[in-house]
Amino acid sequence: HDEKTKVKNIGCVEFGRFEVDAWYFSPYPAEYADCSKLYVCEHCLKYMKHEVTLLKHKARCRMTHPPGRMIYRHPRHDEGKPGLAFWEIDGNTHKVYCQNLCLLAKLFLDHKTLYFDVDPFLFYVMTEFDERTNKHAVVGYFSKEKWSNEDYNLACILTLPPYQRKGYGSFLIAMSYEISRREGKVGTPERPLSDLGQVSYRSFWCREVLQVLHAHKGSISVKDISGVTGFQERDIASALQSLNLLKYWKGQHIISATPKIIEEHMRSFDSKRQIAVNQGWFNTQWQPPT
Ligand code: COA
Ligand code: NA
Repeated sequence: HDEKTKVKNIGCVEFGRFEVDAWYFSPYPAEYADCSKLYVCEHCLKYMKHEVTLLKHKARCRMTHPPGRMIYRHPRHDEGKPGLAFWEIDGNTHKVYCQNLCLLAKLFLDHKTLYFDVDPFLFYVMTEFDERTNKHAVVGYFSKEKWSNEDYNLACILTLPPYQRKGYGSFLIAMSYEISRREGKVGTPERPLSDLGQVSYRSFWCREVLQVLHAHKGSISVKDISGVTGFQERDIASALQSLNLLKYWKGQHIISATPKIIEEHMRSFDSKRQIAVNQGWFNTQWQPPT
């Protein structure tokens, strides 16, 4: 079956303190599908048909954070913003958790993605820390193939809808590049990207490339920018093209931008929501496994 033609089966999910409308079909087992509301534990991601089941489950669920390893911890922000953490989870070791994550994610992804064959993937799950309960709640994630011939550094990315437009998507993307950098690799996300994936990557690439151009006085090539950012050259070229800063001259791409134009563009990329990766907040025991 073509997943795209499948009709949305689940109306909404209750997840933590949110009730979230589903966007697309997700292949939950038949006895859970076709329900108007699914109840999902925000800690272990187990799904249930009835509210009473969830309440009983919550009283018993001992999970206070995702499985796997904490690789990064962002302390509580100023202005009352919660602390954030990243967890690295091997699909082979924590199969059910990762399958449940993929099923939940599929509710918000229109193209076919994996759900059951999670073994070849790592999952980088981002959580917000809840000071009242002392628990880490899932807010988003990205998956990554353990072995990619194409240098893909990200397979699937999701920010759960209640947490979107807070800069978390850009932060997930930044982390995917930081992990590649630590592997000594240049990376790119797997295609196709969804419309929201496309706008998020476009804005991320543009913002980062503009910062490099701004910091670098004098001429710089697409290749040099790739060296600094770890982005693939064609992704940099497409970002520059979208900003109209790339000229094709004698069979070569030339970056053509004045400091004034760069500053104007930078102003148009509002960075108040940006969350920066801080090298000091990585788990010093951790290294990328691939
Ligand atoms: N409309 C317009 N622009 C949007 C947008 C929207 N709904 N969502 C994101 N953007 C753009 C904006 O430029 C935004 O920056 P800004 O908020 O500072 O203007 C930038 O993308 C990044 O936004 P951010 O808040 O960091 O991303 P997010 O947490 O909302 O997550 C996705 C982005 C793609 C992960 C999220 O939309 C998502 O999970 N979508 C559903 C799943 C999906 O399509 N994944 C991609 C599969 S390839
Ligand atoms: Na943002």
